[in-house]
Amino acid sequence: MSGQLEGKVALVTGAAQGIGRAIAERFAAEGAIVGMLDLKPERAQAAAAEVAAGGARTLAFAGNVADRATLADAVAALEARHGRLDVLVSNAIWVRYGPLEGITPDMLRRMTATGFDSVVWGIQCAAPVMARSGGGSIINIASAAAFLGMPNAMIYAGVKAGVLGLTRAAAVELGPQRVRVNAICPGSIQTEGVRINLDAATAAKRLARTPLGRLGEADDVASAALFLAGAQSSWMTGESILVDGGATHAVL
Ligand SMILES: NC(=O)c1ccc[n+]([C@@H]2O[C@H](COP(=O)([O-])OP(=O)(O)OC[C@H]3O[C@@H](n4cnc5c(N)ncnc54)[C@H](O)[C@@H]3O)[C@@H](O)[C@H]2O)c1
Repeated sequence: MSGQLEGKVALVTGAAQGIGRAIAERFAAEGAIVGMLDLKPERAQAAAAEVAAGGARTLAFAGNVADRATLADAVAALEARHGRLDVLVSNAIWVRYGPLEGITPDMLRRMTATGFDSVVWGIQCAAPVMARSGGGSIINIASAAAFLGMPNAMIYAGVKAGVLGLTRAAAVELGPQRVRVNAICPGSIQTEGVRINLDAATAAKRLARTPLGRLGEADDVASAALFLAGAQSSWMTGESILVDGGATHAVL
C-alpha cells in the first residue's frame, strides 16, 4: 500500500463486517488511524483488534448509529485523542426487505433511523471537527437501489435515495468549510448482510444482468471509498459513484 491516508483520522460505521470492515481495513492499510464503530462492543472490539493485528492503528466504538450520541461520542473521542477527524464513512444500516403489506411501523422507523437519521447525525457531528483542521471528506454509503425500482425494497430504496439528496445539499452547505460530502452506490456486493437477505434465484438474476460478469466484493467498494477519502478526489463534492459492475445501466 502507498500510505495515501498517512496522518489522517477516519471513522467508519458498521465496521465489524462487510463493506464497512473492508473500508476500515483499506484505510488502515493506507496509514489512517481508523475508528471502527458497530452495534455491539464485543464485535467492534474484535474487528478493531483483527485489523490492528497487521500493525494498523484502530479504535473500537460501540452503539446504535440511530442515536446521535453514539456518533457524537465517537467523533469527540477521536478528536480528543488525535486532534482531528478527516474522514467519516456512514455505512451502517438495519435492513429488512418485504412486500408493501408486510411493512410495519417498527420496520419503517428502524430503517429510516439507522439509514437516514444516522447520516444526518454523522454529518452534523463530524463536519465542525473537520472544519477546525481545514476540512475533510464525508462518504455516505447509499445503494444502486436509489435508482432502481426493486420489488420488496420500498423503504430501503427511499432511504437510500434520501441519502443522495442530503449528500448533495450537505456538499453545497459545507463546501465553504472545505468539508466534502459524497456518496457511493454499491450494486450487489457479497457480504454477510446480503447472504441473509438475498435468495439464490435473485442472486442469479442479478449476476445475469451484470455486464462485468460477477457480483461485487466489499473490496470493490473500499477502492471507491479510498478515492473519495483522499486527495485524488479533492475537487469532488455532492457526487455519487455507482460501484455495480455496470448493472444499473444495463438493459439485458
Ligand atoms: N451488500 C450489498 O450488496 C450492498 C449493496 C448496496 C448498498 N449496500 C450498503 O452498504 C452498507 C453496508 O452493507 P453490508 O452488506 O456490508 O452490511 P452488513 O449487514 O454485512 O454489515 C452491516 C454492519 O453494520 C452494523 N450495524 C447494523 N445496524 C447498526 C446500527 N444501528 N448501529 C451500528 N452498527 C450497525 C452491523 O452490526 C454490521 O456489522 C449498507 O449501507 C448497505 O445498505 C450494500
